[in-house]
Amino acid sequence: MSKEHHFDVLVIGSGAAGLTLALQLASHARVAVLSKGGLTAGSTYRAQGGVAGVLDDQDSCQAHINDTVNAGANLCRQDAVEFTVENSAQAIRWLIDQGVPFTRETDGQLHLTKEGGHSHRRIVHAADATGKAVSEALINQAKRHTNIELHSHCTAIDLITRRKLGLPNNRCIGAYVLEQKSGHVQTYLAPFVVLATGGASKAYLYTSNTDGSSGDGIAMAWRAGSRVANMEFNQFHPTCLYHPQAKSFLISEAVRGEGGRLLLPDGSRFMQHFDKREELAPRDIVARAIDHEMKRLGCDCLYLDISHKPAEFVRSHFPTIYSKCLEYGIDITQDPIPVVPAAHYTCGGVMTDTHGKTDIPGLYAVGETAFTGLHGANRLASNSLLECIVFARAAAAEITSQLDDHQAIAKAPFWDESQVTDSDEDVVISHNWDELRRFMWDYVGIVRTDKRLQRALNRVTLLQQEICDYYSNYKVSKDLIELRNLSVVAELIIRSAMLRKESRGLHYTLNYPEVHQEQCDTVLTPINYQWHR
Ligand code: FAD
Ligand code: SIN
Repeated sequence: MSKEHHFDVLVIGSGAAGLTLALQLASHARVAVLSKGGLTAGSTYRAQGGVAGVLDDQDSCQAHINDTVNAGANLCRQDAVEFTVENSAQAIRWLIDQGVPFTRETDGQLHLTKEGGHSHRRIVHAADATGKAVSEALINQAKRHTNIELHSHCTAIDLITRRKLGLPNNRCIGAYVLEQKSGHVQTYLAPFVVLATGGASKAYLYTSNTDGSSGDGIAMAWRAGSRVANMEFNQFHPTCLYHPQAKSFLISEAVRGEGGRLLLPDGSRFMQHFDKREELAPRDIVARAIDHEMKRLGCDCLYLDISHKPAEFVRSHFPTIYSKCLEYGIDITQDPIPVVPAAHYTCGGVMTDTHGKTDIPGLYAVGETAFTGLHGANRLASNSLLECIVFARAAAAEITSQLDDHQAIAKAPFWDESQVTDSDEDVVISHNWDELRRFMWDYVGIVRTDKRLQRALNRVTLLQQEICDYYSNYKVSKDLIELRNLSVVAELIIRSAMLRKESRGLHYTLNYPEVHQEQCDTVLTPINYQWHR
């Protein structure tokens, strides 16, 4: 049965970005937070290394700004970088106030670790399971707040805008949401809607992202008429565990930060041939070096070794990685860890300003789903959780200042299921998922060419026709919603990659190996985008 739910603010996503925003708003507004899985679905819970911030007297905002811009291959937006870094210490203090138990030295000072591209130790962490600590603290706080309603297993399908309803003065006023337990699509209405849906790394066959990450927010915003930018910059993390039974398990960059060495199968080091920062070069450089060596030697993986450090040091700094590897028979205090690169992070996304505002009035985007300009062509390690907190707080302040000017939304049409039936061929969905993720890996991966991109575009166009047909005829399911969104973001990634005629940061193409003097973002505008039910 169709129902309408009314709130002041609808937040789609329960990761670091969505929950921070909800907590900041809850004393002024009635907020609903949706998650398409459990409340810990998404990348936040899985984050390992930590949160970057300027906390040490020897460090400076200018050094963090320079590191971010250098890692971003000079494509970062200066205002976004300054805004983030200048608010970093405050964001970390807010997390501590929410109860996040960051690791401390024996004297009580926060322990600061290091990762690739950072010129100082500046990353706060909860051993090697920072995301779990952040996620649990924020969920606990949100559960205590009477103004926050948490709706798990609810998947937003599409945004509702006044334009879509044929009304003047366009504004986003809510979303259609599949409540997975009942199987019904409900109407969620609110004068403010926030996309906090995470990234799109599930577009690739091999990824460090376990669930979510199908680019839902980016696809929904695009369909509703918002611009997206820099989708060609999908970050590949250099070191995911390579083991037939281990899916998507990350070996944190902090392992290299604390002295871990990358090795070829014969036990020799190689990063000195690629960058003078060796293992601590920014991620794009390390991932490309590993990819190059694997292809040159024809091997399935390379190795990351921290066994030269005292065993107790390794176990206490990396307890999660130690026990996970041990499950697969690898004792990291003695053995090198087999590793491969995998899709990890979406640097592009829905275009926003520093207050999370998108092109559509009433619609905001925060966290990995947003493009703020912070990351440029390659994100600096541990700047993502920081961005989630800083921009969610800024967006909450902006929404709070406007709450009184906007009335609750009266009504919108219910979701129409009169023309669709139950699916009789779910295999189409799983087959298309596999096919899409495989050609994205093969043709739109770490090294690209014009020919490969054209092949990928041909494939995605065909798949979209099939998915569109399926979507128009059958009842929606979570898998179908995600596949439809993945096919949209895959196209956005491919088209953005085709437009960039240079190699910069994470976008490397054999056809244009040079970096242009001129720096520009790849901005896509949805003109006459027609793919709605
Ligand atoms: P997520 O945490 O991904 O949350 C997305 C939310 O949106 C989920 O609740 C999901 O259910 C919901 N959602 C998505 N689509 C829908 C829909 N259609 N309807 C309803 N709900 C929806 N970054 C760092 O800075 N430091 C680290 O140490 C670090 N380590 C990482 C380790 C791993 C293994 C991974 C994968 C990433 C890591 N990152 C790290 C990146 C960082 O974790 C993410 O970028 C960040 O957590 C994203 O937070 P978010 O709130 O934007 O989205
Ligand atoms: C890691 O721990 O290596 C992930 C850090 C990040 O993605 O910023």
